Amino acid sequence: MIDSIKLAALNIIKKYKDTTVLNNVSINVKKSQFFALLGPSGSGKTTLLRVIAGFVKPDSGKVIVDGKDITLEPPNKRKMAMVFQNFSLWPHMTVFENIAFGLRVKKLAHHLIKEKVTRVLDMVHLEQYSSKKPQNLSGGQQQRVALARALVVEPEILLLDEPLSNLDAKLRDELRQEIKILHRDLGITTIYVTHDQKEAMYLADIVAVMMNGYIIGTDSPENLYRRPSSLEVARFFGEINEFTGIVKEVIGNNCYIDTYIGEIKAETDSNFVKGEKVIACIRPEMIQFPANRDSANKIHCQIIKIEFTGTLIYVTLKKNSTTFKGIFLPASFRSPESKECMIGIDARDVLIFKA
Ligand SMILES: Nc1ncnc2c1ncn2[C@@H]1O[C@H](COP(=O)(O)OP(=O)(O)OP(=O)(O)O)[C@@H](O)[C@H]1O
Ligand SMILES: [Mg+2]
Repeated sequence: MIDSIKLAALNIIKKYKDTTVLNNVSINVKKSQFFALLGPSGSGKTTLLRVIAGFVKPDSGKVIVDGKDITLEPPNKRKMAMVFQNFSLWPHMTVFENIAFGLRVKKLAHHLIKEKVTRVLDMVHLEQYSSKKPQNLSGGQQQRVALARALVVEPEILLLDEPLSNLDAKLRDELRQEIKILHRDLGITTIYVTHDQKEAMYLADIVAVMMNGYIIGTDSPENLYRRPSSLEVARFFGEINEFTGIVKEVIGNNCYIDTYIGEIKAETDSNFVKGEKVIACIRPEMIQFPANRDSANKIHCQIIKIEFTGTLIYVTLKKNSTTFKGIFLPASFRSPESKECMIGIDARDVLIFKA
């Protein structure tokens, strides 16, 4: 439904000198959606967010909010709030004043400011830090202040640029959960920039994958993982074993591929034809050890190396002269006596792409 689209960036092109940083990029974000922009460093995520916020003018393309073209509107007219990559708090102001700043600019009455700031301080669990200066807070607390400063103006759209990247792993986990809960409670349409695939998948309803100024795929986390639209997208979501092969036969949705590790049966919605060169991809964690009784693919192979990491076991496997990886949970993998084993792979867990 077209009217449920809150924000759209359409065919955005942005060049700096002769470098095209955004190459005809389009996204559609629905009302109350949590939308992640995921991509490696330099892929154009911040630039796209800045175009949406109005800090960067695109060379061409449009930004639409609630059906209205706002491409030329200044940032302060956009009903958006942004938390910047290097959240810059004013060092000479207290936490309270940092958060209140946006409301003072809007000339709100004192008692209203007090009420609103107190409410967001409470939301981000910083009630008792109100009169502290930012430099006396931990990184995680400063990040919360930055978030509160964005929330206090009650934006319709919240733009977050890698808000957790400066934090240690534990704090990142904590704040990530809090952001998810805040989003659930407030329902603010959110665009969240990150280079962390797990973070994007955990938080977002929809993830757009950016690479070199292009969006190479936009889908739900589960579809991006299970049914990626391209090899590039598949590679972005975790490790993947790639086997080049030739399509031997196609029967309905089943594709039989000749590869160096033997014939692989794959289930696919795409159309492949006999004789076509393809790449069959299998995620290490989709390999069964030992093979389930009804596995479509049972492959006899050797175990070359077993590495324990505590929660996961990484196993290097070899068939003919091709090595590949399996990842197992300790409950499903016990070091076998023999180096020979029979692994299994479901036809649904084999992804095929044109070579
Ligand atoms: N003002 C600018 N002038 C010239 N080049 C720029 C400017 N801003 C960004 N770029 C270039 O555009 C490209 C994309 O930058 P951008 O900051 O959007 O990437 P990013 O995906 O946010 O990366 P990171 O994850 O490192 O923050 C980079 O190559 C960057 O050098
Ligand atoms: Mg950036």
